[in-house]
Amino acid sequence: MKHPIQKFVLFGATGDLSQRMVWPSLYHLCRERLVPPTLTFVGSARHPNTDAEFRKFVEGALRKHVPAEYLKEDAVADLLTRISYAPFEAGDGSAKGTEALQKALAGNNRILYFMATSPKLYGPTCLSLAAAGLACELCRVVLEKPIGQDYPSSVEINEAVGQVFHEDRIFRIDHYLGKEAVQNLLALRFANSLFEPLWNASSIDNVQITVAETVGLEGRWGYYDDSGALCDMVQNHMLQLVALVAMEPPHMFEPNEVRNEKTKVLRSLRPITAATVAANTVRGQYTAGSAGGVAVPGYNQETGAQESPKKGNSDTETFVSLRAEIDNWRWAGVPFYLRTGKRMQSRRTDIAIQFKSVPHNIFAADEPNLQANRLVIHLQPKEVVTLEILSKQPGLEGMRLREMPLELSLPKDESGGRTRIAYERLLLDVLKGNTTLFVRRDEVEAAWHWIDGIQTSWRSTRQLVKPYPAGTWGPTAAIALTERHGHSWYE
Ligand code: BG6
Repeated sequence: MKHPIQKFVLFGATGDLSQRMVWPSLYHLCRERLVPPTLTFVGSARHPNTDAEFRKFVEGALRKHVPAEYLKEDAVADLLTRISYAPFEAGDGSAKGTEALQKALAGNNRILYFMATSPKLYGPTCLSLAAAGLACELCRVVLEKPIGQDYPSSVEINEAVGQVFHEDRIFRIDHYLGKEAVQNLLALRFANSLFEPLWNASSIDNVQITVAETVGLEGRWGYYDDSGALCDMVQNHMLQLVALVAMEPPHMFEPNEVRNEKTKVLRSLRPITAATVAANTVRGQYTAGSAGGVAVPGYNQETGAQESPKKGNSDTETFVSLRAEIDNWRWAGVPFYLRTGKRMQSRRTDIAIQFKSVPHNIFAADEPNLQANRLVIHLQPKEVVTLEILSKQPGLEGMRLREMPLELSLPKDESGGRTRIAYERLLLDVLKGNTTLFVRRDEVEAAWHWIDGIQTSWRSTRQLVKPYPAGTWGPTAAIALTERHGHSWYE
């Protein structure tokens, strides 16, 4: 490694994301010795804490979030001895309040800053680091999503961070890009000659991306109510998946080559306007229902809803489905259907590439309706790729056909079959300085630009949320969205 990082500073070190994802990922990387033993960690948050108190806190997070079979006492102890704590509260972007950080980082110029805080604090925090002389030339900064709440606020954040760190030192994380199945999509498309000739509007009928969650808000009402499903999931994770499915083959698997191609897709998304928003989008919100056989409250009855200024009368969407189109030669006329929701019937994330039917059915006497082929990249609950093809049913009765899935299971990884946390791969890439799987500024802004068009059109045409009971597949209008065009959701 040319410039190995020596200090990993985690802002928002006591928050939910840090507890559930970042500390457990760092634990696995240290346990498997994938990071140098000299790498040390500084947790930072507003509250005062001693090193000992903070280590106790991280230990608690690991015991809660790392499965028992991977909790090795010596590995836990090793990570904890490498952790210290430095309180910091982002203020006016001056060096005020950075004393503890300065002390913890003294003389170091190989620092990685991970922002797991509110995005509003990214700019002031970076400016404070610069004012305190801590934004060294070789330092890197990781920004969690969402980068802003809309296009103008994302520009503001990017500008402020960009004043301090050069773009190739900024790592905007979208944890979906750290998922094995998502990277496999790139391998499938660009390492096999089989799919490329078919990967276009001549052969593909439609593309569907579903990210269905059974969980509700998990105590995040305050954050979620300002975002809604469109900004929480579509603006980032789902548009990244769209970009990977639709991009042209890059010249090389190299950060800017890949990101150039993804950006072109995001810029080619046909704007959804006030005239087209009703026909192409559905907003939903869950009402009381059940999850895993247990009764659960509706969105407006969740903890936090009554205490908010909206007093349990919020119309934030917890479900969204969309029909998107990409205006370029490859994809003209191919709808990309996207849907995501909380409190859905089951947890499922997949990308279904629906091919067109054969032009003429020679088996019509026995099989009047031939199913068309479908390639499905399953991200959750299992990471599997299936290609659905038709083959003959054994037997003497004419030419009866049946759908046979060709299944390509991802090989178990070297760590004994553990599904890695997506952050592990991404954190390793940051440490190596590889930005390929991170989102560039122009990508984020192009995505917000498209999303803002939908938000504005929702507001100007007063698109209300349609209720759906928790534990279902969302409002029925989402079914109509595909059926109007002769399609149906892949189940
Ligand atoms: C996060 C969203 O980015 O992704 C959450 O803020 C969502 O609301 C989560 O639950 C889903 O991630 P995954 O990896 O569980 O599909």
